[in-house]
Amino acid sequence: HDLLATTLPDAEIIIVSNREPYIHNRRNGAIELQTPASGLVSALEPVMRACGGTWIAHGSGSADRDMVDAQDRLAVPPSDPAYRLRRVWVSEEEQNGYYYGLANEGLWPLCHIAFVRPAFREEDWRFYRTINQRFADAVAAEATTPDPIVLVQDYHFALAPRMIRKLLPEATIITFWHIPWPNAETFGICPWKEEILDGLLGSSIIGFHTQFHCNNFFDTVDRFIESRIDRETAAVTLAGHETLIRPYPISIEWPPAALKGQLPVEACRRAVRERFGLAPSACIAVGIERFDYTKGILDRMHSIDVLLTLHPEWRGRFTFIQVAAPTRSKLASYSRLQDEALALADEINARHGQDGHQPIRLVVRHHEPPEVFELFRAADLCIVSSLHDGMNLVAKEFVAARDDEQGVLILSTFAGASRELTEALIVNPYDARSMAEALNAALLMPADEQQERMHLMRQQVREQNVYRWAGRMLLDAARIRQRRRVLALAG
Ligand code: G6P
Repeated sequence: HDLLATTLPDAEIIIVSNREPYIHNRRNGAIELQTPASGLVSALEPVMRACGGTWIAHGSGSADRDMVDAQDRLAVPPSDPAYRLRRVWVSEEEQNGYYYGLANEGLWPLCHIAFVRPAFREEDWRFYRTINQRFADAVAAEATTPDPIVLVQDYHFALAPRMIRKLLPEATIITFWHIPWPNAETFGICPWKEEILDGLLGSSIIGFHTQFHCNNFFDTVDRFIESRIDRETAAVTLAGHETLIRPYPISIEWPPAALKGQLPVEACRRAVRERFGLAPSACIAVGIERFDYTKGILDRMHSIDVLLTLHPEWRGRFTFIQVAAPTRSKLASYSRLQDEALALADEINARHGQDGHQPIRLVVRHHEPPEVFELFRAADLCIVSSLHDGMNLVAKEFVAARDDEQGVLILSTFAGASRELTEALIVNPYDARSMAEALNAALLMPADEQQERMHLMRQQVREQNVYRWAGRMLLDAARIRQRRRVLALAG
């Protein structure tokens, strides 16, 4: 937080993302405020609260239009305004093409390599371009200076950086790609690869979570675009314009706001066990995320099946609570996953359940952050088994929730977070047997070992928190701006 305060360049900050930080929905005649389940939002919201500025996002709630002024703006957080939210409207047809189609049926599976075939349709691409232009226009309309710092977020806006550059040539544009960047061969599937690379290279800086993704990006540019690549200075120059390619591992705020007001761990343990009708001594593992096929939800259920087969002593004593927030349910790949997960949970419960006890409890609904943190605090273990994930902030939130320094994190080697949280039990989610053994080891882990591991992981997340993530990017932006000023003086 201090780093952010000292490095904050004297400039206007504008964020562009698809998902908005606050959603207003109408339910039973009343207006309800929702915090969306989105890693991007959990990371950026505290940064915007600290920096101020304007956040431009798609107004997606059923009551969103009722809350804005004539310019579609709203001061947020609603309880204690610190920055401005500008909502951009997208019709259902546009949403089907730009968001569900190109972004989530094309780029999402393309970048995650989770063996779901990416779909690329000409009409989706047309909507994607239209909406990118609409957001770029909104940036130009909201900017009150010729050279704001514009933070473009994620795969929904690969074309926006170039479009913003045309409208505001002096802007410092930092684009952060929250998901993995695949190798050049995989990216080559995309029919619009050159346009996407060209769009992104309108940025001043492109950020990824890991060096590995930066390297993949360099290889992709090298293969498909005629440009100058300097891997030593980590820069790509296209038509005289330089873009820096840098790793910035994203994180969470410290301490997390959702920790405020939490009951002591013992009380959380009791409350959650009571709510699920479990004995006070029951062992609980939790999994909490959007119901997404990249998260490896089926794979972790398979590993629980193997655990209860190889170690029947856990039957009746071990319960896995999976909280899954419905997401992108319009898409067949997502609704299919929901059906498969429900069927698999039933099957495993039938096989290993006894005396009314069910080893898998699947709760399919959205949970607000305080509920999520209560579950983290009540659990003995947390399972993050992503098949591929840029970072994964659930892993960091679990660690942040455990101020008692107890609890074990089981973490996929294919999540960026595994590079930082090395004291987790690192697993390959495709290998059900070894994941089952990791579960068994976690359940048997002595308290002092848990404490030592958790202590180190908490130190890591505390030091490398989201303010540092934003601070590093803004520091790089400040350097670019200073250099430009010096060059201008030199004439
Ligand atoms: C991932 C993406 C974010 C997105 C989030 C939630 O974390 O990187 O851009 O906001 O998933 O998905 P949704 O489609 O609901 O915004």
